[in-house]
Amino acid sequence: MTELKRKIAAAIWAMTDGVQSQEDIATLLEYPPDSTMGDLALPCFKFAKAMRKSPMMIAASLAEGFSCEGVKEARAIGGYLNFTIDESFYCAIVNKIVREGDRYGRSDEGKGKTVVLDYSSPNVAKPFHIGHLGTTVIGHALKKLHEFVGYTCVGINHLGDWGTQFGKIICAYRRWGSREAVEAGGVDELVNIYVKFHEEAEKDPTLNDEARAEFHKLELGDEENIALWKWFIAISLAEYKKTYDQLGIEFDSYNGEAFYTDKMPEQIALMREKGILTLDDGATIVNLDAYNMPPCLILKRDGSTLYPTRDIAAAVYRKRTYDFDKCIYVTSSGQSLHFAQWFKVVDLMGYDWADKLVHVPYGTISIGGEKLATRTGNVILLRDLFAAAIEKCLDVINEKNPTLDNKEETAEAVGVGAIVFYYLLNGRIKDSDFNMDDALSFDGNTGPYTQYTYARCSSILGKVGETDKEAVQYTEPSEYALCKVLSRFPEAVKAAIRDYEPSVITRYSLEVATAFNKFYQDCRIISADGEVNVNRVLLVKATRTVIREALSLICLKTPEKI
Ligand code: ARG
Repeated sequence: MTELKRKIAAAIWAMTDGVQSQEDIATLLEYPPDSTMGDLALPCFKFAKAMRKSPMMIAASLAEGFSCEGVKEARAIGGYLNFTIDESFYCAIVNKIVREGDRYGRSDEGKGKTVVLDYSSPNVAKPFHIGHLGTTVIGHALKKLHEFVGYTCVGINHLGDWGTQFGKIICAYRRWGSREAVEAGGVDELVNIYVKFHEEAEKDPTLNDEARAEFHKLELGDEENIALWKWFIAISLAEYKKTYDQLGIEFDSYNGEAFYTDKMPEQIALMREKGILTLDDGATIVNLDAYNMPPCLILKRDGSTLYPTRDIAAAVYRKRTYDFDKCIYVTSSGQSLHFAQWFKVVDLMGYDWADKLVHVPYGTISIGGEKLATRTGNVILLRDLFAAAIEKCLDVINEKNPTLDNKEETAEAVGVGAIVFYYLLNGRIKDSDFNMDDALSFDGNTGPYTQYTYARCSSILGKVGETDKEAVQYTEPSEYALCKVLSRFPEAVKAAIRDYEPSVITRYSLEVATAFNKFYQDCRIISADGEVNVNRVLLVKATRTVIREALSLICLKTPEKI
């Protein structure tokens, strides 16, 4: 629709003495909620002041002289000028999608520019729980979206692999752990002994001193502690990778916090040189009173570095290594202050790229309805949530389609996809509550429903075979409606990137699926006497492409059969 919007904007611009730019007019154009009113509408009140006329009068006068290729009719309704699109547009869009295939919606807008994305980033040896779902899937969707429009993207898993918790785990391991138990239990066993440490330290606080001493030894490069630390990381990573595989996620770098240990002194020296460091009760801080923020902590009283110190060193390293155009951090909104603080420090250090650091926060997630069992206190592991969804999908498949090939693979794609889709359906800032039955439903606003629609398209195309013809005519309202939704894909991609909001794509893919199913209900693709309607076959093909590309942008796989 972008091109048509542009043409309409140019025509309107010429008729309104340029009081709004062509670009502004194009963004003003909206989709009327009721398509009997038209396919696009221009709200005319934006012109009223400059043109000294009422929006109604402006709409009426524009309607009179309006003409533009691709627009069949322009009608004034109240203060709006409503456009009806020419039939030729529908064929053109379907032919374009069929011709472009998986290139449809892509662009080279970001060509030559690099975006670094820091996401998922769990804390090693702590549970990888549902709270990490947000950063993992929002982060990866943002990566795919940026790649889609031509950016070079670098996905970084900024592992929480440094800090006093390692002292605690080493201490706990020495006291209550064993190599065999950790080898057998993996990250679960590490979490177990970590939980035990906290329980025991309640009773005997000297354990905390012991842990601090172990961490200090680690910092000094003690061989034994370093070996344990590396081993704990390897075990945790192996576990995370299983979850990443299920989501089809790969990272370009796993440089975690520890990687920046030797890169901090240079930055601390620069802060000192710029005169922004002050001592506060023994700790070294950057005072941010002038920016209405509490101070950013750089060094503890004992001289050890902190989370923000490592983030600052990491940002500088990334700028030097990747020369990013944007560096995006996806975390829960609980960390918004942390990012605002150290972004400010980077600015005060004189780095002129501080404004290229972007924090993308998201709300909390809770689980209502069904309680999933977990072995680690109150948290629900992502792995367990996925496993439960996969199992339920497998049950459904065994019941409804027992002869399906690759049942396990399909159940995984649909089960994991259902959770991701459900999560990404709402705006990221809103807190969300997870309900397994709603997520897995095949006839709600769900992943399974959308994936099933894709599989239906594939099955139809499998039956009718390939065609090299072009679409020449559409006549039915549900055909028009579907074409219009398909034509909006590039706009949805743009909006999702602009707002760092993958939910735009989730909702869009649902709109495609819904429009397709209405079309499928209303229109015969193969007539009663066996004749194939090629226009409609092409519409199915275009739909299939768009659903696949849209779902792939939000980390969902598209099985050909379900
Ligand atoms: N490890 C942190 C956590 O689990 C998230 C890290 C986010 N990225 C960053 N560069 N601070 O809360």
